[in-house]
Amino acid sequence: MKQCRRVLAVLVSTGLVAAVLSGCGAGGGDKRQIIRIGHNQATDHPTNIALMAFEEYIEEKLGDKYNVEVYPSELLGSQTDMVQLTQTGAIDFCVASNSILETFSQNYTLFNLPYLFASAEAYHKSMDDPEIVEPIFESTKQAGFEAVTWIDAGTRNFYTVSTQIEAPADLKGLKIRVQQSPTNVEMMSLLGGSATPMGFGDVYTALQSKVIDGAENNEMALTSNGHGDVCKYYSYDMHQMIPDILIGNCAFLDELPEEEREIFEEGFLLVNSVEREEWVKAVEAAKEKAQNEQGVTFLYPDTKPFQEICEPMHVDMLAKYPDLSPIYDKIQEYNAEYPSEAE
Ligand code: GCU
Repeated sequence: MKQCRRVLAVLVSTGLVAAVLSGCGAGGGDKRQIIRIGHNQATDHPTNIALMAFEEYIEEKLGDKYNVEVYPSELLGSQTDMVQLTQTGAIDFCVASNSILETFSQNYTLFNLPYLFASAEAYHKSMDDPEIVEPIFESTKQAGFEAVTWIDAGTRNFYTVSTQIEAPADLKGLKIRVQQSPTNVEMMSLLGGSATPMGFGDVYTALQSKVIDGAENNEMALTSNGHGDVCKYYSYDMHQMIPDILIGNCAFLDELPEEEREIFEEGFLLVNSVEREEWVKAVEAAKEKAQNEQGVTFLYPDTKPFQEICEPMHVDMLAKYPDLSPIYDKIQEYNAEYPSEAE
């Protein structure tokens, strides 16, 4: 797998991937159009399970016309590579973290704010509300892609090789991997750690070789990506609920005949619902495995001190992007309706 990933990464970086992709897939007399979807999770991850359900659904309804191919595990490169491939239409869809989409449209900054959502319920209600997501999901149309649905990626928390993070002061001097977005780098600096941005696929080796002291992610990173083999403390500071976003190439989507577009839209809803159902089970299983098989200790610090340090980021973002204010306010309404359980 690693070898394959490396080869594809080289192809991506040399721009050859489009040529290779157009040459592989259904051969012989198969006239079906190939729809390629890339993502960076393993095959047993909820994201892959949901995309396999999408593949099955589209092929059941439109199988004479389309052949859907799902490429997991960064086979088509890092998320940033895949977004670029989707932009140009070299592939049709990919899953990208909301974090990295911030570098393609400033509107995505909003969902990257630490402590934006008061609870999982407020997060889900917000992400299911078209008034909130549409202005963001459509903001990259001019860049050639748009978001077609969101995918739950739980809550992001700090985890380290050997330091127990009970308060922000414990992060001081630690090199923590963050996703490649200005918001994440700023958050990390405010909290006192040293932000080390890198792609997801490089984190395991960086932890193992002690280039970094820890990272931050949901529980699945411990098991599905093996980070729990190296990191022994996972601390629920609950700093972000960052969705993953399924994005599609605009030209592909716009050219779909109306009846087919409707079927694709149903498929996108299916991705969302299957993933959310699988997510709940997967996180529970990941926690159990991390604790019992990998020897990870879960810590439950007071989240307030972390939250207070990050608060100025909300004010700064609204001052910088005032257009996002009405959406931010709408999220606050959900926060009031579904407050944090800790309160
Ligand atoms: C999660 C998220 C991915 C993201 C990764 C990361 O796994 O679901 O989309 O790439 O975190 O931290 O990079």
